[in-house]
Amino acid sequence: AVALALRKVELPLPTEDEEKVDLLLKRYREQLLASPERLAEVEAEFLAQMRDGLSKRVVVDGKRMMMLPTFVTRLPDGTETGECYALDLGGTNFRVMHVRLGPGKGEVAACNVEEVTLPKEIYTGAGDKLFDYLATTLKSFIDRHSIPPSASQPQPTLPVLGFCFSFAVEQDGLDSGRLLAWTKGFSCSGVVGNDPVALLSAALERVGRPCRVAALLNDTVGVLAAQRYLDSDTEVGVIIGTGTNACYVERLAALTKWEPPPGAVAAAAAAAGGAGLDGRTAINMEWGAFFSPQLPRCMEDLQVDAASPHPGKYLFEKLLSGMFLGEAARRILFTIAKEASSGNVAVAAAAAMIPGPLATPGSLSSATLSAIVHDRSWGLRTTRRMLVSELGMHQPSARAAEVVKEVCTLVARRSAQLTAMAVLAILRHNGWAAASPPRPVTVAIDGGVYERFTAYRTMLTEAVSEQLGKRSSELFPLIKFVLSHDGSALGAAVLAAAAAVTATQ
Ligand code: GLC
Repeated sequence: AVALALRKVELPLPTEDEEKVDLLLKRYREQLLASPERLAEVEAEFLAQMRDGLSKRVVVDGKRMMMLPTFVTRLPDGTETGECYALDLGGTNFRVMHVRLGPGKGEVAACNVEEVTLPKEIYTGAGDKLFDYLATTLKSFIDRHSIPPSASQPQPTLPVLGFCFSFAVEQDGLDSGRLLAWTKGFSCSGVVGNDPVALLSAALERVGRPCRVAALLNDTVGVLAAQRYLDSDTEVGVIIGTGTNACYVERLAALTKWEPPPGAVAAAAAAAGGAGLDGRTAINMEWGAFFSPQLPRCMEDLQVDAASPHPGKYLFEKLLSGMFLGEAARRILFTIAKEASSGNVAVAAAAAMIPGPLATPGSLSSATLSAIVHDRSWGLRTTRRMLVSELGMHQPSARAAEVVKEVCTLVARRSAQLTAMAVLAILRHNGWAAASPPRPVTVAIDGGVYERFTAYRTMLTEAVSEQLGKRSSELFPLIKFVLSHDGSALGAAVLAAAAAVTATQ
């Protein structure tokens, strides 16, 4: 029993099974990294789904992109001024922000941000409790940051709020809509089918701090708006964080499914202020819901999906985003450990031999995955230390650490390749890829994976140049990928400030 216990903790990768491990790694390389031809097929399906979503109202089943109109027909141009708050809810952390815009063009005179972690019982409990929690936090934040009224500057009637609500919402105006489905880890009751602005406003009333919610937007739209405030070449806003998604600027004429309520376009244009989009609007794609059987997936991806809060839905998101990267890598490592240690593929029997955190869902976070991919230490000492502290391994060898690093890198590279595919599909759809002479374009990106995982950014640009068959030196003066730090909250504030100012003019 003692010998067995020792063998258990020295897993996952005994050197005598080196050959088997190599074979397994080869299998995962083939399954996870798609060839350029396969990616081209996936891109063709992605484009077809985009066109489909623009022309008809798609079934909301989490298996296709929804292509949701946002009612943003004007984007900020840097001339917006005023004072505003933003509430940014999208992951397990939410942010509250206070900004003062102006007086100079594109100037942000004051900006205070606070981040709060949502307890799990709040984002999986009753909807009213979630909105009460948000309203209470917001009230105390506003109380700390609002300027006390004075004789020269009487207090404006109500604080103006931009609400960045990062889920699939069918909007019927810039400041109202209906939640179509929860994603990521959220599952609060009583919210799907309802207007998040109405729910938030009611909660703000309950805590005695009513606000004027002037804009409701997806985080991708916030990122697009915030970057557009600084750079008018910005056409796409992307999030690669807990979840993933993109929005882009589309011609209204291409949005054939859209029958806006009478006067809605003009009203939205007037309300949003900023630079007009000349008959174009921002579309929230909900690209996380894309699916194609051609996507490069392995058995462990099916397990990640089955064990997720919303099985069978948002399968593209499950290959790309921070909520799932670490877990996919953990499951692959678990399989390698089982297969390599059993001497045969009697997986079930072997499973019992691998104790501890490696067998526990969620034990390998995407933050750890990113630290492992970044590890350049001698003999991968940093990785080995993390394997001991986080996965409960006992004295992992340098070879074991190399295998872990390769698996983590494969999972991250697949995500970067698919993000590149999807961004290129949008640019192709928008005519950028065929434009002559070539025109510059900026893709604004925010989210923890892109922000904190620097190797991921390199993987993304490598994937773009591979897929376009062009050298980085030709490509990247033309395409700019820009990190839009806190872009979603800032964009919400800017859009709300613009809407409020225009409405009072
Ligand atoms: C999920 C949401 C989407 C959001 C994305 C990034 O995919 O459904 O609305 O933009 O996560 O936060």
